[in-house]
Amino acid sequence: MTSKNRQQTLLVLIVVVAALVLGGRMRGAGAQEEDQFPPGSEEYIEMGCYQCHGYDGNGGGGPRLAPDPLPFAAFSSVVRRPPNVMPAYSPKVLTDEKLRDIYEYLESIPDPPDASSVPALSEE
Ligand code: HEC
Repeated sequence: MTSKNRQQTLLVLIVVVAALVLGGRMRGAGAQEEDQFPPGSEEYIEMGCYQCHGYDGNGGGGPRLAPDPLPFAAFSSVVRRPPNVMPAYSPKVLTDEKLRDIYEYLESIPDPPDASSVPALSEE
């Protein structure tokens, strides 16, 4: 290898390393944004509740869970021992702490706006 070639190789190496380092930083920034999801929503998604109850708890295959979720005692008893087709979540799969987090997420979902405040719904 000539010394010019060696210099070029070194330059390429520096550029590649710099790109990796900067790329890593940017991914780090993305991870920070992920942390901005509402508390408990990640557990809600991770446990698959959204598949039947919708991302914001407004129902789908299963009943609506939010806004105004059931009182916690009733809520947790359904999750642990569902009455019908919903799969049961034992504390091994879904810890009490995660269940609390999910409940707090559902509690944090705001009421929808009143129908009269939506112009398209009040027009004749
Ligand atoms: C496979 C679909 C499915 C998944 C996944 C699922 N559910 Fe359900 N859920 C249902 C159905 C259907 C019902 C109605 C009761 C029944 O059939 O057991 C229900 C009922 C409920 C109820 C009672 C609601 C009411 O008003 O009576 C709660 C609370 C609930 N689910 C919470 C959860 C949570 C929390 C998760 C995630 C940990 C979850 N569900 C995952 C289908 C599902």
